[in-house]
Amino acid sequence: MRMVDLIIKKREGHALTREEIAFWINGYVKGEIPDYQVSAMNMAILFKGMTEEEVINLTDLMEHSGETLDLSNLKGVKVDKHSTGGVGDKTSLVLGPMVAACGATFAKLSGRGLGHTGGTLDKLESIPGLSIQVSGDRFINQVNELGIAIVGQTQSLVPADKKMYALRDVTGTVESIPLIAASVMSKKLAAGTDAILLDVTLGKGAFMKDINQARILARLMVKIGNGLKRDTRAVLSDMNEPLGLAVGNALEVKEAIAALHGNGPEDLMELCYKGGAVMLEQAKIAKSFEEGKAMLEKVIKDGSAFEKFVKMVKAQGGDTEYILHPEKFEVASKIVPIIAKEDGYVKELDALEIGLSSCRLGGGRETLEDTIDMSAGIMLVKKIGDQVKKGDVLCYLHTNKSDDVVKQEAETVYNAYSFTKDFVNKTQVVLEIIQ
Ligand code: URA
Repeated sequence: MRMVDLIIKKREGHALTREEIAFWINGYVKGEIPDYQVSAMNMAILFKGMTEEEVINLTDLMEHSGETLDLSNLKGVKVDKHSTGGVGDKTSLVLGPMVAACGATFAKLSGRGLGHTGGTLDKLESIPGLSIQVSGDRFINQVNELGIAIVGQTQSLVPADKKMYALRDVTGTVESIPLIAASVMSKKLAAGTDAILLDVTLGKGAFMKDINQARILARLMVKIGNGLKRDTRAVLSDMNEPLGLAVGNALEVKEAIAALHGNGPEDLMELCYKGGAVMLEQAKIAKSFEEGKAMLEKVIKDGSAFEKFVKMVKAQGGDTEYILHPEKFEVASKIVPIIAKEDGYVKELDALEIGLSSCRLGGGRETLEDTIDMSAGIMLVKKIGDQVKKGDVLCYLHTNKSDDVVKQEAETVYNAYSFTKDFVNKTQVVLEIIQ
């Protein structure tokens, strides 16, 4: 078999057999097939697509390209959550402790941010002392003891995705439904939980730009998961504007802490309550969505969700003083208000532009080697549907960068907003639940 023939076969729109996909994935992981051929294959898939059978085979072969986790020694129904990426998405930091406080076993392997999207690991690392590099045994012990751990994926899990995702990121091939489905599901399946909740984001700040594409991706992933005996469900969520008000690592952790006290922004709370209620049904803790929601409201009100987060941070070596007193988090040297130049309502707030700007202010990385300024980012004040008067603050830039960068980003961020004189409804974040 030759890789070039498989590329040509896909380029001509034909389906690859399991043996052919195995040749590609195994050869790539072993270093026998070069990046340039895999790039060409990914581009052919982006244009020609894959059949459902091809995606299932690709997912399965990627999942088994390295070690898989055996969580069978853990108590209870193990649940995991994955978002297809967004801006201001700190959901896992809130939803995880919430469902764990209700008795679910939340065992999550997370990733880092790349491009305009943030990653849960980077956010967690803004808590001084906290370690996301936890051995398999410690991970299992922590989950058994506390019902929650959020840690980094080990190098040995799904090496095929690690290589392929980095390659897709620099070859314009991220936005392919079969490749996203196989990437997400291979990781979730290898992580070994019994149930998976997928948050499929859509809109300007997401890889899926419209609801039809997002629905196709969500249904495909739900089918793959359920086909492999994992209770898999999905929420479709809006990512046209950022989620919540905070964008940037420490800023988002502070917002997550506020949310765990019940003081989070409405859209973030909506996603956590609805996603969490689905998870509690999956974990067989709640008999219905409504019962799940009521349980989640209770653990926010009585403080046990917050308490769970504090315990998780402590177990992973983090300094809990920062969680108990979030004003201790380091603040950027420059906090610059962006001022409205006209009256009206916010019509649009481009999540992609805000995400990219936050990165340039120091809050993200362009390559995996870049270091992040944990204090940098953007605090939104006005979002879609808010009324604005000339002179109002729209948002604040938080940065340690030069005045030139501030000037440039102030313009970009202002242009990420658009206004109208007419009343605009606020965004509803959860658009559909697929099960
Ligand atoms: N998230 C992933 O893990 N993989 C993708 O391909 C896209 C989003």
